[in-house]
Amino acid sequence: MGAPFAKPGQTPMVTALPPWRSLFTSMFNGRDLRSDFPTLHQQVHGKPLVYLDNAATAQKPQVVIDALSRFYERDNSNVHRGLHALSMRATDAYEGARSRVAKFVNAADPAEIVFTRGTTESINLVAASWGAANLKPGDVILLTEMEHHSNLVPWQLVAARTGAKLRYLPVLGADVEGGLDLAQLDALLTPEVKVFAFTHVSNTTGTINPVADLCAKARARGIVTVIDGAQSIGHLPVDVRAVGCDFYAFSGHKMAGVTGIGALYGRRALLDAMPPYQGGGGMISNVEFFESRWKPSPERFEAGTPNFGDAVALGVACDYLDGVGRDAIAQHDAELGGLACEKLATLPGIRLLGPRPGAPRSGVVSFAFADVHAHDVVTFADEDGIALRGGHHCNQPLMRKLGLTGTTRASFYIYNTPEEIDVLVSSLQRTLKFFRGA
Ligand code: ALA
Repeated sequence: MGAPFAKPGQTPMVTALPPWRSLFTSMFNGRDLRSDFPTLHQQVHGKPLVYLDNAATAQKPQVVIDALSRFYERDNSNVHRGLHALSMRATDAYEGARSRVAKFVNAADPAEIVFTRGTTESINLVAASWGAANLKPGDVILLTEMEHHSNLVPWQLVAARTGAKLRYLPVLGADVEGGLDLAQLDALLTPEVKVFAFTHVSNTTGTINPVADLCAKARARGIVTVIDGAQSIGHLPVDVRAVGCDFYAFSGHKMAGVTGIGALYGRRALLDAMPPYQGGGGMISNVEFFESRWKPSPERFEAGTPNFGDAVALGVACDYLDGVGRDAIAQHDAELGGLACEKLATLPGIRLLGPRPGAPRSGVVSFAFADVHAHDVVTFADEDGIALRGGHHCNQPLMRKLGLTGTTRASFYIYNTPEEIDVLVSSLQRTLKFFRGA
């Protein structure tokens, strides 16, 4: 590891590969995971699809697609309401999914898992419910400069409502490109700080934050912690008790589940003390014309008909990922991310964000060229069958801090291969040649 950064004008060159392919297959005990994902087996613009937009959403294995169809073909009925066979079967499947998700993150109790639409709704739930009940003028909400808008705007809204103030743990500058400046943390954790919300893995830089350390520092000062797990849940082993967080928010669609379902893990004592987030059927124990009483968690936070079909499929996604092996997934993603950085670094004039080659990282890799806009890079790559994301990645403040308007992002998952990195690098070489005319 540790390839030097190519200088503008240097000949682009793809370095010789170590035996990544054998590493790739042995990591999953020789299983060909690609055959599990039907979407991957297609051509785009006449080229085999190279799907590198996994941080936006991951593809779904056939077992998850089948579980969703099976539920609607056989078990569909509303949950928690009916006394008939189908409703009881659907309720069992829904509550079984809750237990499965609780096990996936090692929660102590399934009641600590609230089903939501995804990470964004989970964070909004904490900010609106816990925040409105616990924050007052003069309190401080500590965030980091690397947060996705989903872990930023909900806190701006509750700050405006409660009079609490926002404070930010800075990211480091150009030499490390966006890692947290942890040396500043102790000084920022003053007695006014009531909540510290931060991401586990950056969706833009691929940085993996030391979440257990951050939680320990906050807990020692009685500060509530909220983790955005959107980019970690399907990629790293996640143990909320080992991490020691109060809340952990995540989405199903980035972990081989379907869209529209996600969860909020919350410590039971905190959830049971929080007011409802939304009102409606299913969350009450008694309703009068002028007042109501609430059920405990998780029902308190699941007003209306929940998204039970997608929750059942999420439980199957948990089975699938545990079957593949979460440690192996983390290793695979990190190796592909590291290899991509090494190879991309050979492109003249490239600016790579995130951990330096050789440092621990996720499978999210962002890069920029001063002379070629990210949208052009993505459009050219699309012609070669490659799916990337270009833009600010819902990270506008971070982009401004790093002096960028946007980046191109390649993000890897369990079915990506080292060969696909070569396809990407060749495509980028073609793009640079077109724009630079050399
Ligand atoms: N948050 C998702 C991303 O980073 C959509 O692409």
